[in-house]
Amino acid sequence: MTPHTLITAFQQAGQGHVFAHFEHLSASQQAELLADAAEVDLAEIAELNRTLVQKSAAAGVDLSDLEPAPYEALPKNGGDAAAWAEAKRLGEEALKAGRVAAFVVAGGQGTRLGYDGPKGTYPVTPVLKKTLFQVFAEKLLAAGRRYGRPLHWFIMTSHINHAATEAFFRAHGFFGLAESHVHFFRQGRMPAVGLDGKILLEDKHRIAMSPDGHGGSLRALDRSGAVALMEREGIDILSYFQVDNPLVRFIDPAFVGWHLKTRSEMSSKMVPKAYAGEKVGHFCTQRGKTVVIEYSDLPKERQEEKDAAGKLRFIAGSIAIHLLDRSFIRRMATGADALPFHRADKKIPCLDAAGNLVKPEKPNGVKFELFVFDALPFAKNPVVIETDRADDFSPVKNAEGLDSPKTCAEDQMRQFVRWANANGAGVPADSTGLPPFAFEVSPLFGYDEDSFAASWSASAAKPSISAGAVLK
Ligand code: UD1
Repeated sequence: MTPHTLITAFQQAGQGHVFAHFEHLSASQQAELLADAAEVDLAEIAELNRTLVQKSAAAGVDLSDLEPAPYEALPKNGGDAAAWAEAKRLGEEALKAGRVAAFVVAGGQGTRLGYDGPKGTYPVTPVLKKTLFQVFAEKLLAAGRRYGRPLHWFIMTSHINHAATEAFFRAHGFFGLAESHVHFFRQGRMPAVGLDGKILLEDKHRIAMSPDGHGGSLRALDRSGAVALMEREGIDILSYFQVDNPLVRFIDPAFVGWHLKTRSEMSSKMVPKAYAGEKVGHFCTQRGKTVVIEYSDLPKERQEEKDAAGKLRFIAGSIAIHLLDRSFIRRMATGADALPFHRADKKIPCLDAAGNLVKPEKPNGVKFELFVFDALPFAKNPVVIETDRADDFSPVKNAEGLDSPKTCAEDQMRQFVRWANANGAGVPADSTGLPPFAFEVSPLFGYDEDSFAASWSASAAKPSISAGAVLK
């Protein structure tokens, strides 16, 4: 498209103001604005304005016919122990055959944490303050050794943090992983619009663009060549997780086995919600399909609803851990089924009509985001399995209080104490399982119960666990 046709298309779509300052820009600034504009799908924005922006913010989500989703309970909670053992065996086989790769979505901005930098570079472990990325890298390294082949790792970034993320890995020698097995790619971007549907400018030569949500990962995986690489390497399953959760067991043989034995195209882990209003998505079924309804979309009465036994009815909380079949990713990226966009009202710094930058006090615009769990209704045989929260979920989301660096470090230590004491270490702990001193276990020593037990029994002199100890 020539600059002229592009500008005309914007004018015809009622978005001509994007080029209001064009004449006064330098040649390179003009080129930047044209490049931003070329990324915008004007028909898509017009449709989103019609369906999302011109409606009230709450109108979007269909809550009719919602039922709690069924899930495979853990054996200790009534699940079938033989089926779990069989799943674990199947998953181990798949891991040894190199059929699984890891995938972290790390394109978000971490605004709630108030941390300036890619969230994966945030320090989280109790003693050494290893970063989230280092924890994941070491888990992957250890799993690769255990299953006899190095695992591939896909890392989705966004235009905001791509360069900084890559530079961080480079500066740390990829934490011991082979560079050839770590694959970065950038997610797509969407323009933000004002409450009147007009595309916002963050500068005279820049459209206010933001990452297109973690659901953008499906198309970005395909577009970036990640799916093709999986095909070449014989990787059938991608293990999806969020960058904010160092406890995540993203190489989990039983989970992989459940995925395989149920012929699921997209599988998920759930934890029973800790309390009615916990801020997690809810696994539900709706007219025969599995769906996730966000905490912000499920009315309080439904979040609190109890069954006959007095248990929360919508109990299955989503911890954003999924397995995705390669063929399913490709179908979602290129087929007729498309994820719906969600509307998020935000305070977006932007230029006013006179071209001055304003920093709004209240939401002044809308960002459009795709959510990966919206792929569930399109998946064949989606399965949800239960997992122990203590072994899979303690995210860092807020600077203080719930889901903060402090709660996360404590949960890591409780896990280390459980693993150690299951092997007779006799570490003292309070009634919540927290030791009186900080210590840490490197993922290279143990990244789950089994690998910890293997290292423990292999060490002739049992490691001493005291204040500041690090098991490597
Ligand atoms: C998310 C889930 C919620 C789940 C909870 C568990 C949504 C809408 N909600 O909430 O159902 O119970 O986690 O912790 O996702 N990301 C990108 N690109 C983007 C946006 C986000 O890569 O454009 C990544 C972030 O880097 C992060 C993850 O997605 O790894 C989650 O994003 P965030 O917005 O923090 O989700 P939550 O609201 O915490």
